[in-house]
Amino acid sequence: MTAETMRLTIRRPDDWHLHLRDGAMMAGVLPYTARQFARAIVMPNLAPPVTTPDAADAYRQRILDALPEGMDFTPLMTCYLTDETVPGQLADGFQRGSFVAAKLYPAGATTNSAHGVTDIANIRAVLAEMEKQGMVLCVHGEVTRADVDVFDREAVFIEDVLIPTLADFPGLKVVFEHITTKDAVDFVLAAGDNVAATITPQHLMLNRNALFEGGLRPHAYCLPVVKREEHRRAVRRAATGGSPKFFLGTDSAPHARHAKESSCGCAGIFNAPFALETYATVFEEEGVLDRLEAFASVHGPAFYDLPLNEGTVTLEKAPAMVPDAVQAGEETLVPFCAGMTLGWRLA
Ligand code: DOR
Ligand code: ZN
Repeated sequence: MTAETMRLTIRRPDDWHLHLRDGAMMAGVLPYTARQFARAIVMPNLAPPVTTPDAADAYRQRILDALPEGMDFTPLMTCYLTDETVPGQLADGFQRGSFVAAKLYPAGATTNSAHGVTDIANIRAVLAEMEKQGMVLCVHGEVTRADVDVFDREAVFIEDVLIPTLADFPGLKVVFEHITTKDAVDFVLAAGDNVAATITPQHLMLNRNALFEGGLRPHAYCLPVVKREEHRRAVRRAATGGSPKFFLGTDSAPHARHAKESSCGCAGIFNAPFALETYATVFEEEGVLDRLEAFASVHGPAFYDLPLNEGTVTLEKAPAMVPDAVQAGEETLVPFCAGMTLGWRLA
């Protein structure tokens, strides 16, 4: 006799921060996301970046063309802001549905951010237009100054950039992406309803010891880099606490294994294959599985003023073995939690 498997059925979730890349890599990684998530905010940091409505439309079409038959998935496109972004063109792209949001990469902060914004003062007219339009600004919240310690970049960004920017544009809708610190949690909680944050699986599960566990661990390296345990705890409390200001955004960022396992390894954790399973594990550990649905499927659409998804997904309490590697086109990718067995699996 076997006990009946415990099941958890939730409204179909969305991923509010995702890197799909392009070409064969995109075709290889897309099904992992589409099997779980109905929609995703697709990051524009391609080479060259997605900076115009036409480029976003073309990228969306390439994604839809790569979607396997029978899978139902809607990519939500973003505009990569540069010092040269033209407010009128951005607003047009938003109004015609080419863009759902715009992404602020401080120049040099992360992968393919070289064309990013060099000084927030350069996009004041863009921010004013976005505030007027009600268009969401997704923010990679790290300063890049060489004199700021890499572990302090997020906290300094709050003081140097976010607080002054929101003072100047108090109605601007901001998603503070992939938050990693108690500072960010406190900031978001204290801010108005127009400020929210996404949270990744890795920032819920890892502290910075993971980077050095028995040796240098490139597959635990992403940006913003994972932080001290006290910060991980604060981020966990935020995700699992029920506040509508926090929602799911994986920041799944595939890089070929050889590009990660290198003398200068790329930043990014490929967590798409078992994303929902990892979040479920965290919510169960915190004893609040009943709050997973709101975090994964309700808070995000509410913030973005989009309808909730109609379908459902079911997780069952059963071992899910994460493979050591998966294939995407010609490339080998190492997924987050490779080699581990998770306690939940998608039915
Ligand atoms: O770790 C990261 N990888 N952080 C980012 O902000 C970008 C991403 C990527 O595109 O690889
Ligand atoms: Zn990202």
